[in-house]
Amino acid sequence: MEKLVIEGGRPLQGKVRVSGSKNAALPILMACLLPGGEVRLRNVPRLRDIHTSLRLLNILGCETEFSGNEVTVQVRELKTEAPYDLVKTMRASVLCMGPLLALKGEAKVSLPGGCAIGARPVDLHLKALEQMGAQFELSSGYIHGRCNGLRGAHITFDFPTVGGTENLLMAASVAEGETILENAAREPEVQDLAEFLNAMGAKISGHGTSVIHIQGVPRLHGAEYRVMPDRIEAGTYLAAAAITGGEVVLEDCPCRELDAVLSKFRNMDVELEERGSDLLVRRSGTLRGVDVTTQPYPGFPTDMQAQIMACLCLAEGGGVIEEKIFENRFMHVLELVRLGADIRLKGRSAMVRGVRSLVGAPVMASDLRASASLVVAGLAARGRTDVLRIYHLDRGYENIEEKLTGVGARVWREEE
Ligand code: UD1
Repeated sequence: MEKLVIEGGRPLQGKVRVSGSKNAALPILMACLLPGGEVRLRNVPRLRDIHTSLRLLNILGCETEFSGNEVTVQVRELKTEAPYDLVKTMRASVLCMGPLLALKGEAKVSLPGGCAIGARPVDLHLKALEQMGAQFELSSGYIHGRCNGLRGAHITFDFPTVGGTENLLMAASVAEGETILENAAREPEVQDLAEFLNAMGAKISGHGTSVIHIQGVPRLHGAEYRVMPDRIEAGTYLAAAAITGGEVVLEDCPCRELDAVLSKFRNMDVELEERGSDLLVRRSGTLRGVDVTTQPYPGFPTDMQAQIMACLCLAEGGGVIEEKIFENRFMHVLELVRLGADIRLKGRSAMVRGVRSLVGAPVMASDLRASASLVVAGLAARGRTDVLRIYHLDRGYENIEEKLTGVGARVWREEE
C-alpha cells in the first residue's frame, strides 16, 4: 500500500486546473447503458472509481475506451448481473439498476453492504422502482429485480437521495409514459446527468428543482458530452489554499455550484474573486471561525465537511459542525486530533476550538473526503505528515500530488 508524505507549512501559490467531476461522471457512465449508438464523453477524470465503472460496463456488455480524459462507450450485448467484487469497491455500481431494469426487464446487482460513512441503504431506490412496476427479492447477497416493462409513476422521495434520483432519471427516460419525481435531489451532478440524458434524446424538465418531469421515450441515441468540473475537488484545493495562507487560482472552477462553500470561506475571511471560469483564492489575515451544517444541495455539501473542519482547527474562535446527511461521518476527527487539533464530538456535532498550530504525524483515514481533510491539515502542519492508505484519495482526486506540487507543496508518494 502507498502513503502520501507531506512536509507542511508552505503557503500554496500558483494555478490548479479542476478536473472533471467524479460524482457526475459515475452516473453518466451508467447512463451509457441506455442508448443504441456510441457515446463520447470529455473531461472524465482518471480515477480508480472511473476505471471500476468502465470494468462494470464491460461486464455488462459494453465496449469502452479511455484515452486521456475521453471515454467512448458502445453497447454490444447487454448483460444483467453486476457482481459483488465490483459493487463492494464502489457503491455507485447500484446505478446500473435503473437502466438494466428499463431495457432488459431484469437486473441482478450485488447489495452494496456497509460502508465507512454509515449504513447507506438503497431502499429509496428500490421503493421508487417498485412504483414503476419492478419487483425485488434479496438472495445470496444480490438484489434481484424484475419487471415487465417499467411504467411512468408519480414518486415522492422520503429524502432527496442523490443516487436514488439518478437511478430513477435513467429508468424513467425510457419507461412508458410520464414520471414525476418529487422531493428529488437538486445536486449539480443530478442536473449534469439529466442534461446528458437530454443530449441523448430524453425528455426531462425541472432538473435542478425538487420536482422533475420525465416523459419516457422508446429509445435514446448516442451523444457527445463534457462532464462538469468537480465542485468538491475545487473546494478541497480552496481549503488547501486557505489553510496554508496561500494564493491560488482554480481554473475551470464551478463557482455557482460551490455557492454555499464559497460563502462559508468568505465568512472565514478568505478572499475569493471570480474571474470568468477561474476563482482566485487568497488568505492573508487569520482565519475566522464559523459554524457549518451540512444539507442537501443547495446547502453546504457533506463532501466538504471534513475539509472545512481541517481549516476550522486553525481558525480563531473555531466553530460547530453539524452533519445532517450521514450518521457516521466524523472518522477524520480523531486523526485531526493526532495532529494537535482540539475537537469534541457530541452525537452528530463536532465542536472545534481553534489552536495556534498543528504538528505533523502519521494519520490514517477510512474514507475519501476524510483522507482529503488530512491532506489539507498536513499542508498546514509543521513537520512531516504521513497520510496512510492513499488508495482512498485515488478514488476521488486526479493527480493529487502533481497538482499540489505544482502550487509549491512538498508532497510525495511512498510505499507504506
Ligand atoms: C452521493 C455522492 C456522495 C455524497 C452524497 C450526499 C456519488 C457517487 N456519491 O451519494 O459523495 O456524499 O451523494 O451528497 O454521487 N439513503 C437511504 N436510502 C437510500 C438512499 C440514501 O437511507 O435508498 C440515505 C443515505 O444512507 C444517506 C443519505 O440518504 O444517509 C444520503 O444519501 P444519497 O443522497 O443517496 O447519497 P449517495 O447517492 O449515496
